[in-house]
Amino acid sequence: MSAHSAPAAPASGIRFERVTVAYGKRGESVALDALDLTVEPGEVMALLGPSGSGKTTALRAVAGFVQPASGRVFIGDRDVTALPPHRRGIGMVVQQYALFPHLRVAQNVAFGLKARRVPRGEIAGRVTEALEMVGMADYARRYPRELSGGQQQRVAIARALAIRPGVLLLDEPLSALDAQLRSGMLAELARLHRELPDVSILYVTHDQVEALTLADRIAVMDRARLQDCGTPQDLYRRPRTEFTASFVGNANLLPVTVGGATPGSVRFADTELTVTGADEPGHGPAPGADATLCVRPHLVGLGEGENTLRGTIAEVQWRGSTHRLFVDVAGHRVKADVRELRETPALGQSVALHFAAHDAVLLPAGTAPQATDPAATRAPAPTPAPDLAAAGVAKGAAPGAGGATDG
Ligand SMILES: Nc1ncnc2c1ncn2[C@@H]1O[C@H](COP(=O)(O)OP(=O)(O)OP(=O)(O)O)[C@@H](O)[C@H]1O
Ligand SMILES: [Mg+2]
Repeated sequence: MSAHSAPAAPASGIRFERVTVAYGKRGESVALDALDLTVEPGEVMALLGPSGSGKTTALRAVAGFVQPASGRVFIGDRDVTALPPHRRGIGMVVQQYALFPHLRVAQNVAFGLKARRVPRGEIAGRVTEALEMVGMADYARRYPRELSGGQQQRVAIARALAIRPGVLLLDEPLSALDAQLRSGMLAELARLHRELPDVSILYVTHDQVEALTLADRIAVMDRARLQDCGTPQDLYRRPRTEFTASFVGNANLLPVTVGGATPGSVRFADTELTVTGADEPGHGPAPGADATLCVRPHLVGLGEGENTLRGTIAEVQWRGSTHRLFVDVAGHRVKADVRELRETPALGQSVALHFAAHDAVLLPAGTAPQATDPAATRAPAPTPAPDLAAAGVAKGAAPGAGGATDG
């Protein structure tokens, strides 16, 4: 451990080593279950998951606000598990700006520097530098109550950056802002990250658009456990579980049986479908096994094709540039996002849908999200919810409801 309180280059990179956190008198409620996860120096890792899945708890374990029951937390190659928060070299921003109301903007930003005994002569310059980074240098003398929500959140980010942390922890920093402001701040966070290429960022959100936009990798959490981790493209194109498929993007999940007359085929109701990779030994479920076929709505087209499904129109939603068709196929409701149609198909009309073998992914059956009743994909289903994420309802949105990325 370094004897200096202000090392020249702050340690970057975060490593969770089987970190378990339990709340309650006897530690009976496990909020984080043996988390293994590495955030590389300079990487943005999004922690994505439904409410209560343990995202904030993971962040608090890095910050030092909660003590793991077991496991270790590293920042850089330093084991910080037993260190108090102020000695970990981290900056943290939470959802509710949490600025000191009685201090001006500049004093708020200077706070962490004073606490860390940065020499007086250096403080003013570092405060200005941090405020410039977030475009708030002109507001240094204002009080928080004289700022908008977005401006307050910028100051909170400046305050976190002023200490020049190696690790930046962001807990839903944009969720209190309205949709338009959020999208602007998202672009600013991306720019900040380009300006601070060495800082590791752990970004908690349950908004998949934020995760897909900003993150180098996404860690998907559910019920205190890490379910999946990969690049946004990986998780979107090649999800490994039904949970990931429906939480990252929108998905059709159809129950199938592996194996049919031709190699690489699966059976869905009375139809034989082909899936690239389904016949490779060691890949995916074995022949005869039940599996789930995942295909994204925007990869399902109208008309016949390589894999054809026949059904009847149950609902049509116009979404400006696209139409979303809900088609009942053998008792299951299939979603297709197609380019805006000149003529809206009538309810009850017979249609064919198709998708390419290489656009389908075979998943192990029974890896569905807890909150989603499997019956919800069965027809006649209740009217599917509109895309909540698109409507700006991010907090607590049910898995699978956030279809803004492909809607
Ligand atoms: N201080 C605490 N005492 C007891 N239980 C807690 C405490 N903080 C969190 N929990 C519980 O731990 C679990 C995980 O909580 P956590 O705050 O990490 O979830 P989250 O993924 O951040 O959820 P959200 O998206 O709603 O913020 C939840 O079941 C929660 O009720
Ligand atoms: Mg939280």
